[in-house]
Amino acid sequence: MSAKEIVLADSGAVARYVADFLLAEAQRAPGTFRIALSGGSTPKRLYALMAEPAYAARFPWARTEFFFGDDRFVPADSPDSNRGMVEKTLFSHVDVPAANIYPMPDQGDPDAGARAYEAVLKERYGAAVLQKGRPLFDIVMLGLGENGHTASLFPRQPVLQEKTRWVAPCVPDDAPHTRLTLTYPAIASSRIVLFLVTGSAKAAVYARVRKGDPAEPASHITSDGQIEWIVDRDAAA
Ligand code: 6PG
Repeated sequence: MSAKEIVLADSGAVARYVADFLLAEAQRAPGTFRIALSGGSTPKRLYALMAEPAYAARFPWARTEFFFGDDRFVPADSPDSNRGMVEKTLFSHVDVPAANIYPMPDQGDPDAGARAYEAVLKERYGAAVLQKGRPLFDIVMLGLGENGHTASLFPRQPVLQEKTRWVAPCVPDDAPHTRLTLTYPAIASSRIVLFLVTGSAKAAVYARVRKGDPAEPASHITSDGQIEWIVDRDAAA
């Protein structure tokens, strides 16, 4: 599958590019626009930008549904919660209907939480099996960790083998917290996968993933549509 790469000056330019991109895609979408959000430092800048009037006043909040590509299994008021971060930086500042926000479960049993989130996705998708040519998401936003993880698809974890579930727990051996994450097949059911990668600390892993190094979980991401890498110069160096 071909992937497009856009190299920009720095993480601020990446946030601006992606804010413009999401606005254009959302405006162009004929009906409900579905996006899976990621955590991470560059997305945080992006969400803050989208909350500014230039974007917030034009974004079709009422027909956009916001999901999460992954989250830590911690309460929303934890500093480690992606949901909490997006609420603080974006949702609390714009007119998005609460019913359009689909946070991942964060209490009880993680496996049951993953199954509950999958049930929500199936209900929104309108089918229990993913179909080619009918993407679950318009956009899946992803980051890239220095250990090659993306979403919460961490090295050496059983979730990397998952072929049927759409959402599963992951307990990384080199990062804190149990996570819930979209699986490879759920991410693949997308029109566009948008990777945001910034900073010199990512340069080595980014080069490996772009070469398709099979040891890196991010190398195995596919999309029924297209993959776009939005990176800054430091990461692309
Ligand atoms: C998260 C995601 C993770 C993230 C990468 C990159 O943090 O919620 O699980 O996959 O996207 O670790 O993070 P940065 O963009 O902060 O480097």
